[in-house]
Amino acid sequence: MIFDRNNNRDVAVLLGAGSMGTTILRRVCAGMTILFGDISEKRLDEVKKEYESYGYAVETQLVDAASRDSIEAFAQKAASLGSVKYYIHTAGASPNQAPPEKIIALDLVGSAYALDAFGKVMAAGGAGLLISSQTGYMFPPLSQEEEMQIMTTPPDKLAELPCLSNERITNSGTAYIVAKKANHLQVQYAATHEWGKRGARINTISPGIIITPLAYDEFSANGEGYQRMIDATPMRRVGSPDEIGAAGAFLLSDAASYITGTDLLVDGGTIAAMKNGQFQLGLSVLRKSLNILKQNRKLPIVGSFRS
Ligand SMILES: NC(=O)c1ccc[n+]([C@@H]2O[C@H](COP(=O)([O-])OP(=O)(O)OC[C@H]3O[C@@H](n4cnc5c(N)ncnc54)[C@H](O)[C@@H]3O)[C@@H](O)[C@H]2O)c1
Repeated sequence: MIFDRNNNRDVAVLLGAGSMGTTILRRVCAGMTILFGDISEKRLDEVKKEYESYGYAVETQLVDAASRDSIEAFAQKAASLGSVKYYIHTAGASPNQAPPEKIIALDLVGSAYALDAFGKVMAAGGAGLLISSQTGYMFPPLSQEEEMQIMTTPPDKLAELPCLSNERITNSGTAYIVAKKANHLQVQYAATHEWGKRGARINTISPGIIITPLAYDEFSANGEGYQRMIDATPMRRVGSPDEIGAAGAFLLSDAASYITGTDLLVDGGTIAAMKNGQFQLGLSVLRKSLNILKQNRKLPIVGSFRS
């Protein structure tokens, strides 16, 4: 059976074929060729089978989203398939899944590689989405000067910045906060440079706690802290991948045609509760983040801490 007789289909790309990414993709990819990239061959096989069963033309490629060469090859593959209309980037590791160097390499430097590589192949009128996190709002992890350095340093040189050194980034939690804040900055830069010049939009979404395999890894390491956060969230519950799907589909759609270079916080109000002092991070988080706070002690701290 031939399900689609059209040639020259637009291409929708997802790097990190996990829960949130596939939920966003499903809402926007009708009539397009889908290209999935992931580090897990098993996961690629699963999504290929699933999306082919819905009638889609599906391509897959093994990609390490921390490797420049791997991401560039992936962007070339996307361009070879047709006009690249959507790029969704969700490949990332959370604090309990990886050591600090890996989180910086994947969640921060890898994102910069991807924005660079796809900034060269996006179609005019296309749109991209990078999944950041609510943690990017938790305290100002970087000074203004460091924020500028993150935005303007070529991806290959990012890991050499003093603000990303082992002395500053001493644990995975800190690495995650810095990387997710950096994602906000990276799309600001991309939107005003390569992506903007091509007539393509790029934004981030910062999810709160969303039930995915990654979130379960975090719960098993710090269940009590997460329970307090869920209880203090104004919505009084976790979020579902579908709620990120809806927000992502909006940002990719023409309804968001004047939105680029910005972040949409989808957290059930957790950050608002922190800013009001209604939710406080535990002392262990404060201790782990002490290096950041010492460096930036002149900056106002968003949120407050339990003693
Ligand atoms: N789930 C949450 O509560 C939550 C909250 C805030 C932010 N996030 C962020 O959302 C993003 C997606 O997470 P998710 O919850 O959908 O997780 P998920 O585990 O469902 O999906 C992540 C996918 O990325 C892939 N991946 C991991 N390392 C890779 C690499 N080096 N190269 C290519 N692919 C790789 C995994 O195989 C997996 O398919 C992550 O960046 C995460 O930090 C998640």
